[in-house]
Amino acid sequence: MVPKLTSTAVGTYLRDCWYVAGWAADLGTEPQQRVFLEEPIALFRDESGKANAVSGRCPHRFAPLGQGKVMEGALMCPYHGLRFDGTGACVHNPHPGGQLPENRLRVYPLAERHALLWIWMGDASSADPALIPDFSWLSNSRWEAVRGATLAEGHYELYSDNILDLSHANFVHPALVSAAFTEGDRKFWQDGETVHAEYIRLDDYLSEGIGGMLGRIGQKQDFYGWVVWHAPAVLYFDFRAGPPGTPREDCTLLPSIHAFTPETPDTTHYFWATARDFALGDAEFTAGMHAALEFAFEQEDMPLIRDSHRLMRGADFWDLQPLVLGGDGGGVRARRMLQRLITREKLPQAAE
Ligand code: FES
Ligand SMILES: [Fe+2]
Repeated sequence: MVPKLTSTAVGTYLRDCWYVAGWAADLGTEPQQRVFLEEPIALFRDESGKANAVSGRCPHRFAPLGQGKVMEGALMCPYHGLRFDGTGACVHNPHPGGQLPENRLRVYPLAERHALLWIWMGDASSADPALIPDFSWLSNSRWEAVRGATLAEGHYELYSDNILDLSHANFVHPALVSAAFTEGDRKFWQDGETVHAEYIRLDDYLSEGIGGMLGRIGQKQDFYGWVVWHAPAVLYFDFRAGPPGTPREDCTLLPSIHAFTPETPDTTHYFWATARDFALGDAEFTAGMHAALEFAFEQEDMPLIRDSHRLMRGADFWDLQPLVLGGDGGGVRARRMLQRLITREKLPQAAE
């Protein structure tokens, strides 16, 4: 479904950066119609299997191209059958005369990396795949990941706030996430353009959910949560736990990604995954882990953030003078960094 869009863009976005466009395995022979940053985009694979992103609005009568089909490697409009290739050129006109229009669709750089599709929404000449954050564990056979992709209501910055502030876990995910994070030691810092949040709790009990996942219910553990935010809203969450005194690097690691791509100022594509390097190939374990995480993100986090977003009624975040609590050190830094990056992008001459 194409979301209702106003005639002019109303959001403010960072454009020269990689956004997650989807899980690579979810783009098969059927094209997809998406909206990123209020722009309609069609995703499709050509005959070689290469994934392409082009404008998702047909230049004839503006039909959603991603609702068409791929024919002989080209994307066919579902309305009157014009076909476009991955360079945006019209390569087939089925109507009498058959002239090919000269105008091309906008092409968006698209990279397939770490089991994800990454799209560049800004100036194509600066789209460097080396800027994609390292999530290589997502495509490394040492790890088995459970994953999800959903459309969430709410501004994308509220979603990155949520991951950077693990202190909400005690209240929102009592069964799943380590409740003691609310009381644990925490630290927030910046490193270049990334923002970090760290939560440490030593010698305490894990939640039933995580304890069960690790087979350590009723055993005290040292546990560590470390979140890394990459602009504009791609987050790595590194959770480790081990018997008290275990060196941090020897603790069991559960790596996660939470990637948020704005659809509109009110809606956000949410891509998440968590991996493990034990119980590999255990389908029952995988199903349980998937269900628990999906419940936490989609049934616990998302409705709260949706309702918070609705209560903001389109107001600017800072205009509402939000209280700042001890868990907000990451979210506030990330919001400020994002504003700096957006300002710098709009005023290149002011770049540091
Ligand atoms: S709207 Fe696409 S061919 Fe007519
Ligand atoms: Fe949460």
